[in-house]
Amino acid sequence: MKIEAKKVSILDVKMPLLVVNLFEGVKKVGGATGVIDKALGGLITELINDSEIKGKLGKTTVIHTQNKIKSKRVLIVGLGKSSEFDEEALRKASAAVIRKAKEIGVTKLATIVHGVGQRKVEPKEGAKALVEGALLRNYRIINYKSKKDEDEPKGIEEIQIVDIDRRNIVQFKKGIVFAESISSAVNDIKNLVNMPSNELTPKKFVDIAQKLAKEKKLKIEIFDIKKLKRMGAEAFISIAQGSKMPAYMVKLSYNVSGRKKTLGLIGKGITFDSGGISIKPSKGMWEMKGDMAGAATVLNIMKILDEIKPKLNIEALIPLTENMPDGGSYKPGDVLKTVSGKTVEIMSTDAEGRLILADALGLIQKEKLDYLVDVATLTGAAKIALGSKISAVMGNKEDFVKKLILAGKKASENIWQMPLLKDYRELLKSKVADIRNCQDTNKQAGTIVGGIFLKEFVSDEVNWAHLDIAATACFEKDKDYQVGGATGVGLRTLVELIGML
Ligand code: BES
Ligand code: ZN
Ligand code: ZN
Repeated sequence: MKIEAKKVSILDVKMPLLVVNLFEGVKKVGGATGVIDKALGGLITELINDSEIKGKLGKTTVIHTQNKIKSKRVLIVGLGKSSEFDEEALRKASAAVIRKAKEIGVTKLATIVHGVGQRKVEPKEGAKALVEGALLRNYRIINYKSKKDEDEPKGIEEIQIVDIDRRNIVQFKKGIVFAESISSAVNDIKNLVNMPSNELTPKKFVDIAQKLAKEKKLKIEIFDIKKLKRMGAEAFISIAQGSKMPAYMVKLSYNVSGRKKTLGLIGKGITFDSGGISIKPSKGMWEMKGDMAGAATVLNIMKILDEIKPKLNIEALIPLTENMPDGGSYKPGDVLKTVSGKTVEIMSTDAEGRLILADALGLIQKEKLDYLVDVATLTGAAKIALGSKISAVMGNKEDFVKKLILAGKKASENIWQMPLLKDYRELLKSKVADIRNCQDTNKQAGTIVGGIFLKEFVSDEVNWAHLDIAATACFEKDKDYQVGGATGVGLRTLVELIGML
């Protein structure tokens, strides 16, 4: 999509669709909307007076201008209550515009940045939110249909962001650049998460990472099973051995000289989770093609570091394998040794994520880290506890967990903390190993127990947070700026977090 900011009077814009706005409850329109209303002989005011436009957030009304102004149509988007308006509302309003534009078959539009005139948002942040809402909503899932669906609406090809104030245009341009890189990273996560596992194999993921590293001049190391054996990653290897697909860990490094602190990032990369020998029920199993959402998030963060300009070094480690049932699979009752030397008794081969993370945590901490975040679709229990709109966070340092939650707030991604209650450690007590990978029966507090397991593999010296996105990585329905399927959750939070470190 081509997006540009242009200093032009709204009446001089010549586009198939021109977007203005209305706050809820406003009867007398001002600003850009007022200018258009006047040019259209008070048509917008009439619609308001007849209660046909109320300004509810995301409600759209299209009117044809019949040559009264240069643009063919005007769209009035509702912004909701002025007191509740923020960047997230702006994203939603912008997404609603895209939805409507697609519906009426328009591919180009011009818009003001809603709320800037009323000083409800800053110009740069406003343009960023507007573009994010548009680009995220314009996402289309990659399909493999042999014939093109003729009825499918075209995507939006061009957005012109207009204003008469040159200072606003300068700020808009900055917001656009940032939003474009963030949105493209989020949409790339969606592509990977939505991709079938026969296409997105661990090897293919490695290829994508290699290409990215070359483009972005990042240091990359690929660890295959042979190397991982030497490194003592027995837990990871045990999961990989049930699959015919070769498994890998990918390490990406972003180093800037003179930067002393280092952030470690780990993303769970199970390209398909059948459950293994503890096989999952077949209903809904297809969704487990997305069990590499954490890996996709971490990979895509690395892609946009040039734009984020971190003030610290970043080391990312991504373990990639399938979890499959096979004659060679690991089995319940097995005892596996991890990189840390700690042994794990397997209660369920379906609690595989924490095992590959245990080894990845062990490996990444061979370097001196100040902060460490793992992102993982770890537990189905997260959905029971928090539903599909809130990710769970746990960690070993209160301040760092708080920072991550705050980063989520800034990014409009909901994150709630779960307590790593010491008393629950006994739920993972094993007679034959240092720890069990999950509870045997009477499963309770599943998300917390996942976090308690991981904590065993984290040094107390590092600020660590675990983000469980099992419930939030996919959302089947179209909602606001989300298109049904993968959500790309987590990236925007990490962008904010990195900016805070
Ligand atoms: N990949 C799943 C978690 C998951 C569930 C992700 C639903 C996305 C949607 C994970 O590997 C898993 O199977 N976890 C088990 C843990 C249990 C065996 C302790 C679960 O949640 O049931
Ligand atoms: Zn599993
Ligand atoms: Zn899994």
